Amino acid sequence: MSETKKLFIKTYGCQMNVYDSERMSGLLESSGYETTDSPEQADMILLNTCHIREKAAEKVYSELGRLKSLKAERPDLMLGVTGCVAQAEGEEIMRRQPAVDLVVGPQAYHRLPQMAEKVRAGARAIDTDFPEEDKFDHLPRGPRARRAPTAFLTVQEGCDKFCAFCVVPYTRGAEVSRPPERILAEAQDLVERGVVEITLLGQNVNAYNGGDWSLARLIRQLAAIDGLERIRFTTSHPNDMTDDLIAAHGEEPKLMPYLHLPVQSGSDRVLKAMNRKHTAASYIDILRRMREARPDIALSGDFIVGFPGETDEDFEATLALCDEVGYAQAFSFKYSPRPGTPAAAVEQQVPEEAKAERLTALQQLLGEQQSAFNQATVGKRLPLLLERRGKHAGQLVGRSPYMQSVHLEAPDRLLGRIVEVEILSAGPNSLAGRVVTGSHSSGQHEAVRPDQESLSA
Ligand code: 5AD
Ligand code: SF4
Repeated sequence: MSETKKLFIKTYGCQMNVYDSERMSGLLESSGYETTDSPEQADMILLNTCHIREKAAEKVYSELGRLKSLKAERPDLMLGVTGCVAQAEGEEIMRRQPAVDLVVGPQAYHRLPQMAEKVRAGARAIDTDFPEEDKFDHLPRGPRARRAPTAFLTVQEGCDKFCAFCVVPYTRGAEVSRPPERILAEAQDLVERGVVEITLLGQNVNAYNGGDWSLARLIRQLAAIDGLERIRFTTSHPNDMTDDLIAAHGEEPKLMPYLHLPVQSGSDRVLKAMNRKHTAASYIDILRRMREARPDIALSGDFIVGFPGETDEDFEATLALCDEVGYAQAFSFKYSPRPGTPAAAVEQQVPEEAKAERLTALQQLLGEQQSAFNQATVGKRLPLLLERRGKHAGQLVGRSPYMQSVHLEAPDRLLGRIVEVEILSAGPNSLAGRVVTGSHSSGQHEAVRPDQESLSA
């Protein structure tokens, strides 16, 4: 294609969508689009959407309402909806918003260029198939040329667990793992482009099953790639926390000491109603074994308050579980009934005020735990990956092994490097530090583990 057109993608929701957005822009780049930060300049606008909670889904319709006027001024502008709302409500989007030209679900976006052709020919295009062919086989190899030191890499998609509140099994389909050789090749390619940290992604990433390959085996093989310094993975289900994966945290220094393991509730009654197939005690036992394997591991989780039938007593059990665990970071949400899920049909819904009260109480506790965790790293020396420039001149922002953002003064040439940093102070959401002189010779840095007792474990 001769003339370059401009593409603007707005990404909502999880890291999986961030990864998909990158792959979509890579794909559209090969058919003549370059990305822009400005929707006003774009020839194509894609909203890559999230359906996990009602609020997330509603945002799409209000954003489309705003974009409609842009399209009225410039009828050639192509407007598309991708991602999980596209999958779940494709037909409805087309009906509710005539300005939308194309709708494509998360499993079919490799067909975007053909769909765009169809739109240019004057039609509207919708594709929410779960095609036989694997989209990854039809995408150009690796995301766009890049300099960023961190990257996401999707290794697994979909979910077979059917938690009673969750739309993922419907929007993303059944669990599918990508072949290990493709993942290893993509990782190698990323490293050659300057990536030093890879986060492996999947809705159930620890259920990864590439024939003889478990997630642990995949991580160990990735760790053998020269120049790849840090490996993370997200997000996991407690029932797939296998012994080999737990052991890898103690044995593989490139695997970062941070585990995001959603529990959703601390009440066994609620966990049963949620169809989680684990108990509070079995969850805590996994974390105990994780700490045995990697004493400084930072723990993170997800919580839902106000699941149908949740009583004050059930909620107290959630607070008690948090007290027992001591999270470094956690995410909590009010239960949001999702169409088509079993929990949405339950009559005994928790009133909005009770949900709001419980969320406030839980977030207060989790906030205190996060502050305490951050505070415990003050005075420590940690290896930091310097990821980006900060707001102020001369400032860079890096990430600790424990996922903490740290601000510090450092020259731009250190971007993408791992340096040793002394932590000077801590707030609830970020830390300040200073580079320990002479520590920034290379990226070949092994994780320095702080003493265990100084963290909030
Ligand atoms: N309502 C509220 N939160 C939800 N989550 C998933 N589905 C719902 C829902 N219907 C939360 C869970 C999950 C995270 C990604 O989003 O905590 O782990
Ligand atoms: Fe949703 Fe449960 Fe699957 Fe996680 S494990 S994606 S919460 S159904």
